[in-house]
Amino acid sequence: MEITNDVKYLGVDDFQTDLFEGQYAVPNGIAYNSYAILDQKTAVMDTVDTHFSGEWLEHIRAALDDRDPDYLIVQHMEQDHSANIGIFMEQYPNAVIVSSAPAFAMMKQFFGTDYPDRRRMVKDGDTLSLGSHCLTFIGAPMVHWPEVLMTYDSLDRILFSADAFGKFGALSVNDPWEEEARRYAIGIVGKYGPQVIKVLNRVSSLDLQIICPLHGPVLKENLDHYLNLYRLWFSYQPESEGVVIAYASAYGNTREAAELLAFELLSRGCPAVAMHDLARNDLSRAIADAFRYPKLVLASITYNAGISPFMAEYISRLNERCFQNRTVALIENGSWAPTAAKTMKGMLESCKNIIWADTMVQIRSALNENSRTQVLSLAEELWPAAD
Ligand code: FEO
Repeated sequence: MEITNDVKYLGVDDFQTDLFEGQYAVPNGIAYNSYAILDQKTAVMDTVDTHFSGEWLEHIRAALDDRDPDYLIVQHMEQDHSANIGIFMEQYPNAVIVSSAPAFAMMKQFFGTDYPDRRRMVKDGDTLSLGSHCLTFIGAPMVHWPEVLMTYDSLDRILFSADAFGKFGALSVNDPWEEEARRYAIGIVGKYGPQVIKVLNRVSSLDLQIICPLHGPVLKENLDHYLNLYRLWFSYQPESEGVVIAYASAYGNTREAAELLAFELLSRGCPAVAMHDLARNDLSRAIADAFRYPKLVLASITYNAGISPFMAEYISRLNERCFQNRTVALIENGSWAPTAAKTMKGMLESCKNIIWADTMVQIRSALNENSRTQVLSLAEELWPAAD
């Protein structure tokens, strides 16, 4: 695949991995992107996952037309991008690795060497000339590891953005960008909003035509759309109107309350209600939706004098990603000593700028007239019916 006259795609699609990073389901696979820049000197940008060494080396040979690469630019040391550094360095004994000091320290950990005679250490603001293409490195610590560099090619006006602007899904699966990019971004880097915003502020001053991430499609059009979404996600602001209902039910009574609430919200004209059964649905999707919409309803059984373990895990993951700036409502169920609402509220108490709904729904075993009325009141509070 040609990105510009001088920049070629070298990446691979992975349909073998079921759980990315051992935790994120990737039913549509995932792409590990790598690029070549052809100039007086040639550079390869990052490697790919360990299972695709042969395919990737073949892509290099084809793209470089049997020229040897002069540089391997390592932007990120997570293994999905760095696993083939050793193989590359054996294959191309004259190549030099260009990367950050912390990346070389990690290379020693992963490969037993930091290539002292074949390396060029760079930091934020440093440049590398390939001839016509001048590359400027942009430090992007914690987007998503501390060693990360992004790279700007001022000739083709390309930002090689490391993990940023990536998504789940192989390139041969042409699914919409937003859904899987949001799940990827919030899941992987949600904790590091301020660091992402800092890099976005740097990037906004660049003359940009193309973004080349390490996962997902190369972005060539309407770049402001992607930049604006990143700014919303990582400043922890909601993206669109709607309500998330995340529930953990045992015998269906708590689920029934969640479904009644969803029906009432939609009846009142709420534009989107995202329902997640936390025991069965992919938690990363429920997390991404909590970052997408401004209102979140948590509905849980009381369990062992606390809450459902699935709800506990969900709230823990929200906390881990600095969940904030949202309205949160609670539904609890308990047959003899309901404690779920108190437990859920306590688990979220360190989150910033949470507005708690006035209405709290308490179910005693099963919905009755009283708790149904509470559900209707909660629906009216979250999405008042138009007059
Ligand atoms: Fe795609 Fe942080 O690695």
